[in-house]
Amino acid sequence: MRILAIETSCDETAAAVLADDGRRIQILSEVVSSQNELHERYGGIVPELAAREHLTNLPIVVDSALRAAGLDYGELDLLAVTRGPGLHGCLLMGVNFARGLSMARKLPLLGINHIEAHLFSPWIEVEGPSFPFLSLVVSGGHTEIHLVEDLNRYTLIARTRDDAAGEAFDKSANLLGFTYPGGARLANAADKFLAGSRTPRSGLALPKVMCGERDFSFSGLKTAIQLLLARHKELCATEEGRCELSAVIQCAIVDILESRVRDAATLTGVGTVAVAGGVSANSALRTRISQLPGMRVLFPRPEHCMDNATMIGFLALHKYRRGARDAGECSALSRWPVEQVHGQ
Ligand code: KG4
Ligand code: ZN
Repeated sequence: MRILAIETSCDETAAAVLADDGRRIQILSEVVSSQNELHERYGGIVPELAAREHLTNLPIVVDSALRAAGLDYGELDLLAVTRGPGLHGCLLMGVNFARGLSMARKLPLLGINHIEAHLFSPWIEVEGPSFPFLSLVVSGGHTEIHLVEDLNRYTLIARTRDDAAGEAFDKSANLLGFTYPGGARLANAADKFLAGSRTPRSGLALPKVMCGERDFSFSGLKTAIQLLLARHKELCATEEGRCELSAVIQCAIVDILESRVRDAATLTGVGTVAVAGGVSANSALRTRISQLPGMRVLFPRPEHCMDNATMIGFLALHKYRRGARDAGECSALSRWPVEQVHGQ
């Protein structure tokens, strides 16, 4: 079974080819074209521009994925595309492209939930998935913990009430003057400070937010960060100071994520946690979650933390193994919570 998967939910145009021999799923090729440079000058994603860019990039990205896999369209058995959630115009580009391919090449098409694909992405490189596991998805638009009892059996444990963790990183990075998307840049600056085994001075500590709550909230932290930076303008003015402030901010965000995972493990008694999404590339988060006592912890490879089509193909193949088939209704769904995926 050979699958071509397409992802265009946000600002990455991605395609991947995977093969499933019934025992093992193998990645034959994966291509990601990022639009970071295009949106950098606007300080955030411009949906209309992102959608147009997908339209230009899709044929190129899909062709190069097929060429890298050494396959022709005629050698494919299945197509998969991200249906949602995401930016509507962006999703439409991928979905319409995939539907066109499906009709022209008479290939079945499976529509995949982007967050559900993130949720299974830590299992791409390891044997599994083995159920049950807890999933922490931390991306630019989502921050949620699910109990995953089986494919299609997800229980929401916690969700952010306001900003996502990636947004908290990006907005803080913006306040510190890092260009968009600043999350990884802030993380780099923090790691630079922490590399010398230094700890930020205690006067810079941020308040603990929403202690005792099950959900996430980052908006209070954002206000606290704004006040902190206003109080320490002298630190914002030097690279060394920005690195120290980055370390403080990163630690506060990671604290929130780690404490909610710990609570979810206690609540459910589940001993495996799989962390996914763009923020799962963060090294401080990886270290802290890996140190949770008695837990098996999984992370995707760095390139599978960010948006990619490999995770879309991987989940589609698992769904196909379990009997999912083309139901002829693959439309774009900009809002599509994971708990509502059942039966798709
Ligand atoms: O999953 P993703 O690629 O796209 C969405 O579906 O949102 O996640 C992107 C988010 C951005 O907010 C980005 O700043 C953040 O992940 N990010 C990071 C790091 N790398 C990417 N945040 C913290 N530390 C990182 N190393
Ligand atoms: Zn994502």
